[in-house]
This record gives sequence, structure tokens and C-alpha cells, in this order.
Amino acid sequence: MAPELAKTIAAIREHVERARKSGRSVGLVPTMGALHAGHAALMDCARRECGYVVATIFVNPIQFNHASDYHAYTIDLACDLDFCAAQSVDVVFAPDAAEMYPVPQSTFVEVTGVSDHLCGKFRPGHFRGVATVVAKLFHIVAADRAYFGEKDAQQLAVIQRMVADLNLPVAIIPVPTVREADGLALSSRNRRLSPEQRRIAPVVFRALDAARARIRAGTTDAGKVKDAALEILNAEPTVRLEYLEVVDDSGMQPVEEIRGPVRIAAAVWLGATRLIDNVFFTPSSH
Ligand code: PAF
Repeated sequence: MAPELAKTIAAIREHVERARKSGRSVGLVPTMGALHAGHAALMDCARRECGYVVATIFVNPIQFNHASDYHAYTIDLACDLDFCAAQSVDVVFAPDAAEMYPVPQSTFVEVTGVSDHLCGKFRPGHFRGVATVVAKLFHIVAADRAYFGEKDAQQLAVIQRMVADLNLPVAIIPVPTVREADGLALSSRNRRLSPEQRRIAPVVFRALDAARARIRAGTTDAGKVKDAALEILNAEPTVRLEYLEVVDDSGMQPVEEIRGPVRIAAAVWLGATRLIDNVFFTPSSH
């Protein structure tokens, strides 16, 4: 069945209120549209765990560093609505920018520390924009549970920290990264890759996986672990590395010695397309 479509804050609040009155728990899947199987995994978890599933489709202007990147982020709402229908989403909240930001925003949520490295270092203001819009969505939708992919591990950590620090009454549910058969993490940006770039792109996961294998083999020196990934990435001259880092899983701070759960995370450019990915390792996971 096609989901309901709410374009205004008042309308989505009414839908959610009605669902609550009928005793249903509310699950929220925030997205920027251009939906793919990674989003389907989030919606699927929400569907299994909640009586009422809200997906949001909003390309958030304040989380883009460059206007050109924002304008490149085109979505096809009709196509995304069909996608949500196939995932049995109950209602889609798809406001326009004027609905979310009727006047220029003066209040921002800044999550320090956890935002400082990885993408935060290379995309100044990005996580401030993400945390601010997600906080707004949490207040608008008032969901019981909200679903975020581990592919954006730093985003997930930022949101978890925001929820803890601000005592927001929503449970954050991490959902594992969905990959293509060749290891490429699903992302809306993958559709911007040329066929040749698409062929090369799985090198990112191969490199991260090799680094993780080095930890499994007993290496605890993060520098040596990164070398395993660099050997593979450097063999692809068209891949431009933005960062490769080993960070502790909750604080997202770079570590030199691996003693607890870590993420090995990378951002690369293939032509004009930026791809990020990460893998998790915990000493008890091998
Ligand atoms: O991951 C995304 O798609 C966005 O950053 C989010 C969480 C929907 C906020 O705009």
C-alpha cells in the first residue's frame, strides 16, 4: 500500500499522534532520498520492531559544505515513494527547505569531540548540520526508535552522543552496512560513478578488510594496520585518499595502539565522487 505523504510539520504530527492513540510504537528512518537497499535494511528493521514506520525524505541544506554538492543531490520523490511503499512504510515526511527552515536557523546542535576527526575534519560544519536536522526531526516526529546505518559510523556516533547528552527520549538503533557482492558499501553517491570508477570502487572495502585482517593476525600498532590498507589503495592510482584512520568505536578518536573496539575508516575520491566506508573490529570478534 502507498504510504501517506506529509509535507508539513503539522501534518506529520497529526499522523504520528493518530498512530500513538491507536497504541502503536513509532519507528523513524531519516533519509535524504535517493533510496537504495541500504535504506531498505533500515526500513525493514523499523518495520519488524515498530507498529508505525515514518520515513523522512529531506535533503538538508545545512549539512553540505559546498552548494554544488547540495545541488548535485537530486532526488525523485515519486520513485522514493514507490520504494517506501514496497518497504511497507506507513508515512513519508517530505518537507521542503522552507518548511524546515522558514527563517535562517540561529540554533545549532554541535557535538564536540566525536565530530572532530574523520569526516568532521574534512567537512567543517557537516555534523553540526546533521545533528541539528536530526534533533529537529526527533522533536517533530517524537519516535520511540530511530534507525541509522553503520556505514556512516561517525554520524551514528554523533547522534548517539547527542541523544545521551541531551536526554532525548529516543532509542538509536544501528543497522549493519549493506554491501554489493564485490564489497562496495551501498551509497546514493555510487550512482554518480562512471562504469570504470564503479569497477575500481570496491578497492576501499578490500583495503579496510585487509587492515582488519592484520589486526586479527595480532598487530596492535595502528600505523602498521593502516599500512595494510595503504598498500592496496596505493595500487589504484585513480583513487585519491582523503583519510584513513583507526579510531575507537564510541569516541571516534584516533588510536595508536589497538586495545579495544575500533573502526578502521576511510574516505576517498574517485573523480568528483567522494566515498566513505568503515569496518569494525573488537578484540573478542575473532
Ligand atoms: O544519512 C543521511 O541521509 C543524513 O545525514 C540524515 C541522517 C538523513 C540527516 O540529514
